[in-house]
Amino acid sequence: MSEGQGADAATGTVAAPDPPANVLRAPERAVEGRERIEWVRRNMPILASLEDRFAEERPLAGLRVTVSVHLEAKTAYLALVLRAAGARVSVCGSNPESTRDEVAAALAAEGLHVYAERGVDDARLRTNMLRALAFRPHLVVDDGGDLVELLHEQPELAAAMLGACEETTTGVARARARAASGSLRFPVLLINDARCKYLFDNVHGTGQSVWDAIMRTTNLTIAGKTVVVVGFGWCGQGCALRAAGLGARVVVCEIDPVKAADAALRGYTVKPLLAACEEADLLLTATGVAGTVGDAAFTRLRDGALLANAGHFWTEIDRRALFARAVERRRLREQVEGLRMADGRWLHLLGNGEIVNIACGDGHPAEIMDTSFALQALSVEHLARHHGELSATTHPVPEEIDLQVARAKLAAMRIEIDSPAPTAAVGGAG
Ligand SMILES: NC(=O)c1ccc[n+]([C@@H]2O[C@H](COP(=O)([O-])OP(=O)(O)OC[C@H]3O[C@@H](n4cnc5c(N)ncnc54)[C@H](O)[C@@H]3O)[C@@H](O)[C@H]2O)c1
Repeated sequence: MSEGQGADAATGTVAAPDPPANVLRAPERAVEGRERIEWVRRNMPILASLEDRFAEERPLAGLRVTVSVHLEAKTAYLALVLRAAGARVSVCGSNPESTRDEVAAALAAEGLHVYAERGVDDARLRTNMLRALAFRPHLVVDDGGDLVELLHEQPELAAAMLGACEETTTGVARARARAASGSLRFPVLLINDARCKYLFDNVHGTGQSVWDAIMRTTNLTIAGKTVVVVGFGWCGQGCALRAAGLGARVVVCEIDPVKAADAALRGYTVKPLLAACEEADLLLTATGVAGTVGDAAFTRLRDGALLANAGHFWTEIDRRALFARAVERRRLREQVEGLRMADGRWLHLLGNGEIVNIACGDGHPAEIMDTSFALQALSVEHLARHHGELSATTHPVPEEIDLQVARAKLAAMRIEIDSPAPTAAVGGAG
């Protein structure tokens, strides 16, 4: 029996349901998964140093932690670091298309409770989340807010919670909405809002990995294409920057006038969505808002246009409306679906509209997730040590943790910086 399975009153262990069949059926794939985890471990030095300290100090001893983040190698390493800190850990996917089965198999072989499978529907994803939560966690690492929402449907589980950490913009918005309505049952630390998260992960992580995923999935050029980026927030800025660097002509669509003006000052063409659709070779959404690209856009897009979504949920591109318009649907390559419109135009949807850099690629680079997951690990430790001082609302990551991760990142890049002068004067030498 692996760690934590079966009921054991003395250790506080709880019975957990059997893992999904894919994990049980694929123990041989665990070898490949372990290789992937070892590679990221070598490239996540901040998390590796935390693993060493946690193994000595065991700050999570006696606690159960559930992790729901896109289950690929970097997330698996975070789960192992939390276990090194003394926690019992259950893991589930956070998206139907983002789990790597070989990585899930590797974690299952390590004795973690794994409820994650690639290529499931939303109902099965939810079932797996519920199975992971049957572990009765004290702490949750969430990505998009689904676990936090499910915990609120089960008051007895929510009552046992010490706190949660939220990884992404969409989950932060959901937690904030709950806090504003006074219904949040436990503290939630907003990892996404730490500077070491959004400035690195959303901008540079998304900026690189979206184009990596699109290029490897389509085997097409970005250079010379008109790329329309919808949403010029942190992710959209990174995607626009790297598309321009790859030689694309970039058009930005924004509804916030300040961000639209910012995009124009940075040299991008700015247009309303429907006008931009008429010239898009590739349209990419990054708004976090459902229905950003809806039915009207599908009538305006050019023949051959590619559609991809970098936001957390597939709902940014209304694929149901797109499917309803299609008179023919055809799989053209892995993760590329062709949809023929009644007027003969073909539109191409990548990764079924799911978060493209993870559905069609490996997600953010390891060095980027090193800072995001160092923030997660330190914030989980913070919740474990200080939950008694934290009210049931949203909280920023403590500034000291953000600075600690920034210093560690600079050290990992072998960069030194100056310190501010002790009595820095404002103004001239008077
Ligand atoms: N792909 C990834 O790896 C990854 C990484 C981090 C975050 N995310 C997700 O990406 C999404 C965006 O995150 P972010 O941090 O950039 O958010 P953000 O809030 O910084 O930016 C979103 C932008 O979209 C704009 N917007 C909203 N509705 C719009 C519309 N209809 N048309 C045009 N613009 C619109 C907003 O004004 C805002 O500027 C979220 O769902 C987030 O969870 C994805």
